[in-house]
Amino acid sequence: MTKQILLGQTLGFCGNPLVEDWQDAVVFDSAGAVLIDGDRIVQTGPAAMLRAAHPDANVTDYGDALISAGFVDAHMHYPQTAMIASWGKQLIDWLNTYTFPEEARFADPAYAADIAGRTLDLALDHGTTTLTSFCTIHPASVDAFFGAAGARNMAVVAGKTCMDRNAPENLRDTPQSAYDDSKALLEKWHGKGRANYAITPRFSPTSTPDQLTALGALWAEHPDCLMQTHLSEQLPEIDWVRGLFPDARDYLDTYEAFGLLGEKGLYGHAIHLEPREIDRLRDVGAAVVHCPTSNTFIGSGLFDLMGLAKAGLSIGLATDTGGGSSFSMLRTMAAAYEIGQLRGTALHPAQLMWLATEGSAKALHMQGQIGHLGAGAMADITVIDLASTPAISQRSARASDIWDALFPTIMMGDDRAIRDVYVAGKRRA
Ligand code: GUN
Ligand code: ZN
Repeated sequence: MTKQILLGQTLGFCGNPLVEDWQDAVVFDSAGAVLIDGDRIVQTGPAAMLRAAHPDANVTDYGDALISAGFVDAHMHYPQTAMIASWGKQLIDWLNTYTFPEEARFADPAYAADIAGRTLDLALDHGTTTLTSFCTIHPASVDAFFGAAGARNMAVVAGKTCMDRNAPENLRDTPQSAYDDSKALLEKWHGKGRANYAITPRFSPTSTPDQLTALGALWAEHPDCLMQTHLSEQLPEIDWVRGLFPDARDYLDTYEAFGLLGEKGLYGHAIHLEPREIDRLRDVGAAVVHCPTSNTFIGSGLFDLMGLAKAGLSIGLATDTGGGSSFSMLRTMAAAYEIGQLRGTALHPAQLMWLATEGSAKALHMQGQIGHLGAGAMADITVIDLASTPAISQRSARASDIWDALFPTIMMGDDRAIRDVYVAGKRRA
């Protein structure tokens, strides 16, 4: 039998609660059901109706737990899993002190395979069913990640990180090898199973104009691929970029001038944007990715979520492991809430959940396929226990509605709140 029904409180979305009234964007049922056939969601609706219509389906009853689309992490670095929470540095020092030495270890394919599997399992433990990851400069690090994701049938986005300057010698490629290796990996992996290749210049300080040009040409040859990088994360970084690219109008121009600004571009952080950059990102339909735990951990600044949403930008949410300090998209939503408070906006739980599912999926141009609890989507599903610890349950017990019941888990929950995870319709053992 391939048909199954999950019963619980169900939460999905039919609109974008950042730009419309959240109540119009939410599809919530306190006695809901999700009908799955094979690897896809066929229907969502009232439990009584779906049970009566499909008496042959296998039923799993989650009681008061909340059934959501699996979380979609729109920007992270799987090679940084083992060095998460390293103390005391801001971006450039942090890269040189902790990140580059760790990434050099990925010259060993066995180490890459170990960390890739570890990262994907940690993601699933935390209810995240899709990761969007940077790899290292080593092609084998890309094979390791896509191989491990394929073994788990997870939809992922990843690419070889390209750097040909301002990095240790053992972590540098060249314009030609970055092009050749990225092209070979793209042809090997893009569209294979649930794998999606993203062309990946780390950020403009670590790529020469020649390398950016080569990767822009590769993207023009494969416009169906995503392109991921970093943009305007920290003020000293922006000063550095200004010195390296004296002719550029702004940071975004260091990508735009080389063919690396486009609709399928994913720009991580995007905290300190100029008006021209915001206009260009909106005009081309590119996405920015909010990485709130990273922004506070590395001391980068306060992302203007509501301002950019109102300006019409597509926005995803991400852990940015290991600049981010958590594997949990619940903790990531909490940090987004806290940054929102510091910018004068209290994000509603519906807005936070939308960002962690639909918003990230939209940023990846995979809306309707992942991050969606509705007909036609892949059955990547997370079941959330709303009383997972004594601290949370004593608060959610007095909740007045689903949002009041969910918010304590967003603010205080972790992997203990993840009751079950389904990947392509298969319950995780
Ligand atoms: N900018 C360039 N590389 C990185 C990285 O690995 N992490 C973060 N947070 N920012 C970056
Ligand atoms: Zn990053």
